[in-house]
Amino acid sequence: MQEALSNVERHAKATRVTVGLDIDPTRLKVTIGDNGVGFDMDTVLRDPEKWDHFGIRGILERARLVGGEGKIESKKGRGTTIVVDIPLVNKETIAHGKN
Ligand SMILES: Nc1ncnc2c1ncn2[C@@H]1O[C@H](COP(=O)(O)OP(=O)(O)OP(=O)(O)O)[C@@H](O)[C@H]1O
Ligand SMILES: [Mg+2]
Repeated sequence: MQEALSNVERHAKATRVTVGLDIDPTRLKVTIGDNGVGFDMDTVLRDPEKWDHFGIRGILERARLVGGEGKIESKKGRGTTIVVDIPLVNKETIAHGKN
């Protein structure tokens, strides 16, 4: 959340940002959305000037490290939404229905 919000402040030129927190006993989902300039992920990944910029890669990597998943949805001119979804119980427990 900290990195996503700092990106909004530094890059988005947004007039609106929303932060959603959706939490239940099995999962935690955070959504950060802005109405700013947006960007193209592939272009950023290919830009040699940004190879040492690790903010977004860090978000995705940290989500994976705790068994979750991060998603970046962004389009030029259409704003950016970042969703991080983290399971709070392991998958076997869910499969066997014991909580
Ligand atoms: N919310 C956003 N709105 C518009 N552009 C964004 C947004 N978030 C990221 N970007 C673009 O994606 C690039 C990569 O973001 P990332 O957080 O990985 O690096 P950074 O913010 O440039 O540097 P660092 O986070 O390492 O200090 C940014 O430089 C910017 O061009
Ligand atoms: Mg950043």
